[in-house]
Amino acid sequence: MCGIVGYEGNREACDILIEALKRLEYRGYDSAGIAIWDNGAIKVERRKGKVEELRKIVCDGTFRGQIGLAHTRWATHGVPSERNAHPHKAGNVVVVHNGIIENYMELKNRLKEKGQEFLSDTDTEVIPHLIIDHMNDGMNFIDAVRMTLKELKGSYALGILKEDERILIAARKESPLIVGIGDGEYFIASDAPAIINRTNKFIFLEDNDIVILQNNTLKLINIDGETVERAIQRVQWTDAMAEKGGYKHFMLKEIFEQPRAISDTLLGRIKEEEGEINFDEIALPDIRKIQKIWMVACGTSYHACMIGKHVFEANLRIPVETDIASEFRYRDPIISEDDLLIVVSQSGETADTIAAMKEGKRKGAFTLSICNVLGSTLARDADGVIFTHAGPEIGVASTKAFTTQVSVIFMLMLFMGKKLDILNNQDIRKHILEIKRIPHKLQTILEMAPSIEEAARKYMSCKDFLYLGRGIQFPTVLEGALKLKEISYIHAEAYAAGEMKHGPIALIDENMPIVFVSPNDQTYKKTCSNMEEVTARRGRIILITDDKNHEMSKRVDTLFVVPDTIYELQPILSMAPLQLFAYYIANFLGTDVDQPRNLAKSVTVE
Ligand code: M6R
Repeated sequence: MCGIVGYEGNREACDILIEALKRLEYRGYDSAGIAIWDNGAIKVERRKGKVEELRKIVCDGTFRGQIGLAHTRWATHGVPSERNAHPHKAGNVVVVHNGIIENYMELKNRLKEKGQEFLSDTDTEVIPHLIIDHMNDGMNFIDAVRMTLKELKGSYALGILKEDERILIAARKESPLIVGIGDGEYFIASDAPAIINRTNKFIFLEDNDIVILQNNTLKLINIDGETVERAIQRVQWTDAMAEKGGYKHFMLKEIFEQPRAISDTLLGRIKEEEGEINFDEIALPDIRKIQKIWMVACGTSYHACMIGKHVFEANLRIPVETDIASEFRYRDPIISEDDLLIVVSQSGETADTIAAMKEGKRKGAFTLSICNVLGSTLARDADGVIFTHAGPEIGVASTKAFTTQVSVIFMLMLFMGKKLDILNNQDIRKHILEIKRIPHKLQTILEMAPSIEEAARKYMSCKDFLYLGRGIQFPTVLEGALKLKEISYIHAEAYAAGEMKHGPIALIDENMPIVFVSPNDQTYKKTCSNMEEVTARRGRIILITDDKNHEMSKRVDTLFVVPDTIYELQPILSMAPLQLFAYYIANFLGTDVDQPRNLAKSVTVE
């Protein structure tokens, strides 16, 4: 998705902005641009492709000035090209924008009738034109910006410069934007990793906030021009956490970080001796009244929700409905005030998941977000939030976010089970003991990386993969297949293993590897029968199991044995070989693992 950075201070802005932009590359983009103000003139440069191309042109000392903006664009309106790249300039106003202006066509037609000339196909370009239009009517710059924002329908994070004034304005509505507070200088960014090497003091802007940075001072107003106050927050993420630390890719680093990430997720929350889970951070309503739990998310986070359905229903006996966030609100879901709506998101900024949370709120449900990013919209706007504490996840393919989400879901089940008197202290102690062992068990799987890499080499030229699993391993294989397809561009489909006979079996021959995840759980025997059916059709099986002694384990093409654990936690262990398998195949194929084509880290448009 698009990225915004801005600087206002006493140092040269160009290098600072380009470096910050590079730190946002992980979000995915197709073009980049920069605007620097210097003594009443704004220099703008834009390039299709990587930030590096832009850097070569602007970081030669010619782009001088101590206030500026830069942007990476992920095309929504208009093809990726230099003319559609941001910043966009109209008259003496320059704008960078994340989000979508839904009524841009109507505004554009109105402005065209007034004689304004448009140079791009973007929705963004109406913004500087509208500002100019209001200034032509006699408004000052700040009021013209406010009036413009009032006319925009849709979402925006904005950075705005004006040629004849040393001023930077930033504003947000439904698209993330933060202000970093330095020593006599300010930064703006759409995501903390962009500027975490500069400061760890942030203001997380809220909808309709407008920031005015001028003469090294910061002023915050709302869309009506009233002064607003926002707390300065210190984030714990360090710069080193947002760097690769010797790994070839962020994704690999993040896979290997999982034991540590899960330990951090558990930290301060498990009280083993007391047999208690501490979630002081949330004040859930009366749990006994909950009629239904909704779990809504997108992508990987949705797969964590599907696991949540198994975990909650099996243990709490409360019905759970899972939904893909982009579908949820359009079917007018029947939510009651006694329902609990859990939204799960790494970024906390996924537009569809935010919309799902709003739908739940509107219908009176208690909304709880499970989220990784402090200050994000879902963290702020839900009635309660549980942070996963996975640390920054930079690779577009989600890895440690998933395993920490499953860990939180498991702890939440224990927490609620205790409140409902379904689980006693002893049950909880037993479960705590099991989840405490997960980081170590995961570590032993990660040590199998060289053999997984070998297997990846063997299968890297296959064109299609089928992933099969039952019960709680069905979402696990969905997630495994998603990992493979998003980073290697190989077609991979996942099915509940029982569905194989209802169609996918027709695909099976010696050319298509079938990845089975089948630990020795209640569905084991059934899945073993499915494996028999595959071998009978000369299908090649890659099996992930905790049972190396089973007859089937000796007959498969490739075997990965993971440690055993309880049913609810097994997906965390099964996931590690799936992540590594996908990673190594993509690495062999030479794809852009951390920024796969067409994908964005945080999908802030619907
Ligand atoms: O930030 P979120 O967890 O809300 O993101 C949801 C999806 O966009 C995300 O999981 C996506 O599917 C990843 N690329 C998966 O690896």
